[in-house]
Amino acid sequence: MSKRKILVTSALPYANGPIHLGHVLEAVQTDIWVRFQRLRGADCVYVCADDAHGTAIMLRAEGEGITPEQLIDRVRSEHKADYDGFLIGFDNYHSTHSPENRHYSESIYKALRDNNRINVRTIKQLFDPEKQLFLADRFVKGSCPKCRTPDQYGDNCEACGATYSPADLIDPRSTLSGATPVERESEHYFFRLPEFTDMLKTWTRSGTLQAQVANKLSEWLDAGLQEWDISRDAPYFGFEIPDAPGKYFYVWLDAPIGYMASFQNLCDRSDYRFDDYWKPGSDTELYHFIGKDIINFHALFWPAMLSDAGYRTPTAVYAHGFMTVNGKKMSKSRGTFINAGTYLAHLDPEYLRYFLASRLGAGVDDLDLSFDEFSHKVNADLVGKVVNIASRCAGFIARGFDGQLAAQPSNPALLADCQEAEAEIARAFEQREYHKAIRQIMALADKGNQYIAEQQPWVLAKQNPQDPLVQSVCTTGINVFRLLMVYLKPVLPAMAAKAEAFLNVTPLTWADAGSLLIAHRINAFTPLITRVDPASIDALLAASRAEVSDSANSPEPINSPERTSSPVAKDPIAEEIDFNDFVKVDLRIARIVSASYVDGADKLLQLSLDLGLGADGQPIRRNVFSGIRSAYRPEDLQGRLTVLAANLKPRKMKFGLSEGMVLAAGPGGSEIWLLSPDQGAEPGMRIL
Ligand code: 2FM
Ligand code: ZN
Repeated sequence: MSKRKILVTSALPYANGPIHLGHVLEAVQTDIWVRFQRLRGADCVYVCADDAHGTAIMLRAEGEGITPEQLIDRVRSEHKADYDGFLIGFDNYHSTHSPENRHYSESIYKALRDNNRINVRTIKQLFDPEKQLFLADRFVKGSCPKCRTPDQYGDNCEACGATYSPADLIDPRSTLSGATPVERESEHYFFRLPEFTDMLKTWTRSGTLQAQVANKLSEWLDAGLQEWDISRDAPYFGFEIPDAPGKYFYVWLDAPIGYMASFQNLCDRSDYRFDDYWKPGSDTELYHFIGKDIINFHALFWPAMLSDAGYRTPTAVYAHGFMTVNGKKMSKSRGTFINAGTYLAHLDPEYLRYFLASRLGAGVDDLDLSFDEFSHKVNADLVGKVVNIASRCAGFIARGFDGQLAAQPSNPALLADCQEAEAEIARAFEQREYHKAIRQIMALADKGNQYIAEQQPWVLAKQNPQDPLVQSVCTTGINVFRLLMVYLKPVLPAMAAKAEAFLNVTPLTWADAGSLLIAHRINAFTPLITRVDPASIDALLAASRAEVSDSANSPEPINSPERTSSPVAKDPIAEEIDFNDFVKVDLRIARIVSASYVDGADKLLQLSLDLGLGADGQPIRRNVFSGIRSAYRPEDLQGRLTVLAANLKPRKMKFGLSEGMVLAAGPGGSEIWLLSPDQGAEPGMRIL
């Protein structure tokens, strides 16, 4: 049989936030499959990239005072470092903001346009007159037109479930500036998706999708598809549409094309040929691993675009479910929204790889990371079963036989069992039923341990360390261990590398399951993996909680993208500013008249501040929401003086208007300190 030639992708993470454990789940699922294929001798290429375009990235860069290009470069290296930490074996990690992606996005668009698949028509959209940009639905809030619940997003109401257009909101406002949006017309470019209905009905039923996913898509296809808006107006961070000045490709148009771009970038410095993988009729395979929330982009828009532009469609799209932590949606306030870098600072990546493998199946069910089960699995299976076999046998071989394995293992039948399981384990990996593979591997480990326990080589060795039975029993044990490591290598590449050093063998491949290690000298045993330290889990959860309160310390506008927790050291001092700019900030001494908790905001305290008397002789009062709840009790704040940035534009928050910001310092959590003036300072005094 000729070698399989396979191209695999994971979804491209957005460049506006850090990699979190949800991304890790997908990358690990993909990486295990890729490593399995490579071990089986396939030529399996794995590419990914950052998804670097869109309004969110543009705004974030603006907020950080850097260019979008600077932001995406930094985030890309952070993402890459996180994936490396989890041993994700990409052949290339590129960016959608790349020349290759511009090339393919433009050429695919032109092909669609020339095939008369693009409609241009004028639509009405809400526009932020202050920020001078059109507002996507999630950047507009207001009261629900149906039930009047305040503070609802532009497309649906969380209280009554109504869906509507943002223009229908009562008292709409831009979440970016607080301004009241106005309706404006603009020309948009639409991809004529409904014309692909028949093609998609066939494609989605041709074995390319999981049954659950194909059923869902059938419903959508039967309900009727709509044209897809692929353009956005300037200002936008992305690629300008050819012959359409001021119009940009919507981020989701060029994101999947990023798969092609990343592969092209790899082709440019290797022997891979782009057309072998992307032109119809080739014998190569193409797989996309994605989350279940982005199925429409990959199983409707993407195959339609590809086929119309003269490319092949994916062999399969594999969707997975979401990750929950301790039974609940990952939550910042519970400290279970865990970033990849934070995990890596506390725990071994292979713990999580193993735990995920033991839980992952081929369906779209959510996967719960319960830390109790996580510890139990790793400790009981990897330490207690797999490593235990090797550690029990290695010493006797080293001491009694100078590291030499016997020419005849004592239990060929047991080893034959372990070897025969290969086909079924391979089938489970191939079908992404990793939990089934792990269950079978652990059943073999149980058999191996049981056999060693029965034979008790330690009893025999006590009488005669050179008893040949000790050598052949331990040779059986070491061979069971070696076969287990062949099967576990897609999941545990680092542990497998340590096992190879211990076994004194060249890198294991899947075919090595067909042979045994006999009359061979092994090396001294060194620990391959340690037990999970419960203190490290506590530290991880505490660190995740602290990251959140750190970001809550400077409340950001509702809906702003998450802050990155950059592992890259940054200059601690911000960029220089002019004195004239500095004096624009009106810093005032304020007295905290009262402080209270805010319902539904577990990071905030509401402060009522006294700023002395105004020019009219009336007291000046300010209402401020401050992210200091983790460090202060309201009753301890009453009456104390602090410093307020008093001329900040009031900010509409979910809980009300925040009129300024009190100054505080510290890393977060209980370590936040409000600034206090020396004695003698009075409310209302200006600082300078
Ligand atoms: O959902 C997301 O995070 C997107 N950035 C995924 C893009 S996948 C592909 F199409 F690029
Ligand atoms: Zn409502």
